[in-house]
Amino acid sequence: MQQIGVGLIGTGYMGKCHALAWTSVKAVFGIGPKPRLVHLGEVTAELARQKAEEFGFERATGDWRDVIADPDVNVISITTPNSFHADMAVAALEAGKHVWCEKPMAVSLADAERMEAAARASGKVAVLGYNYIQNPAIRHIHALLQQGAIGEVNHMRIEMDEDFMADPDALFYWKSEASSGYGAIDDFGVHPLSLITTLLGPVERVMANMSKPYADRPLKNGGRRMVETYDIATVLIELANGASGLIALSRTAWGRKGRIAVQIFGSRGSIAYDQERLNEVQLYLTGDKPAEQGFRTILTGPLHPPYDRFVPAAGHSLGFNDLKVIECHELLGAIAGKKTPVIDFEQGLEIERTVHAMARSHHEGRWVTVRNPN
Ligand SMILES: NC(=O)c1ccc[n+]([C@@H]2O[C@H](COP(=O)([O-])OP(=O)(O)OC[C@H]3O[C@@H](n4cnc5c(N)ncnc54)[C@H](O)[C@@H]3O)[C@@H](O)[C@H]2O)c1
Repeated sequence: MQQIGVGLIGTGYMGKCHALAWTSVKAVFGIGPKPRLVHLGEVTAELARQKAEEFGFERATGDWRDVIADPDVNVISITTPNSFHADMAVAALEAGKHVWCEKPMAVSLADAERMEAAARASGKVAVLGYNYIQNPAIRHIHALLQQGAIGEVNHMRIEMDEDFMADPDALFYWKSEASSGYGAIDDFGVHPLSLITTLLGPVERVMANMSKPYADRPLKNGGRRMVETYDIATVLIELANGASGLIALSRTAWGRKGRIAVQIFGSRGSIAYDQERLNEVQLYLTGDKPAEQGFRTILTGPLHPPYDRFVPAAGHSLGFNDLKVIECHELLGAIAGKKTPVIDFEQGLEIERTVHAMARSHHEGRWVTVRNPN
């Protein structure tokens, strides 16, 4: 295939990120089909036209079903709020399109199962937007773990914190509505779970506590509305490989902007990483000379693929949008029939099961086994 027709639904934060990825993936990687930006959907025809002009799409619509029905579209980016993912992804797969859908997969487990079944039945590629696993730094951590560089892993901790909802007077919006999901565990927790799945394997059981720092928030046109989601969560986890772990999540952590602080402890060393410094890996090895033991900082460079596709010089730093370009490239590889490092709907469903096990654990005050929640 020399060209691949792209449809985009939603043009906010992630919609722009997908559009940038589709625009630059061929220039960055050189191989694969050239994306043709065919059809863009938004809530109104006017907004769609404006965004199509900005992003370089040929056609625009105020009805997302037009994007799916377009015969020139082969793959659809879904970047709308969570509650739309299931209907849009299932419709796209049933129409024979490949899907690149933002995380979390869906709000309810039944919807996530419906999406996974539609992907399986369609035979099309269906991938979720778990961009952080695409970071060359994370790939290097994966390689270190595979090589046994830090011995047997016995414990891991991931803290994911941002402050975009920290202000008690920030307006009520869709992320405070129950229709968007539980809150921190599905909005945020799915990212640490994508890293755990990729680096350490499946989660066996969880014990979670969720909290609401602010009971209500102001409405745009006056008055206040009760907050329906939990902005904070703390989750003890046990991995299938026997290691223990902790995930701590907050959307209301003043001062934290994009923190995903990962610590992995093994029998012969430790690895640390923080998304706020996404080009650095901290490595501690007991094999170092005793008097010189300490965390070393590894700056990513051309020796950490696919960093080399962006910049030929080490230490010049990739950014968040570059991770999405890598994800887009891996999606195209999967469409070409290759086995690539993406989280598809089948693996995504495991992440959703873990999220729902966390919520159940909170409500029932007990450990919940992911595969057998009852
Ligand atoms: N992968 C990541 O790191 C990451 C980061 C942020 C958000 N997300 C996910 O991306 C998704 C979107 O989040 P966002 O922050 O971009 O939201 P946003 O509010 O910035 O953008 C959503 C867009 O979807 C449009 N939209 C809503 N309903 C629509 C419909 N029926 N038809 C067409 N367009 C519609 C809105 O007008 C808006 O432009 C969410 O699922 C979110 O969880 C992922």
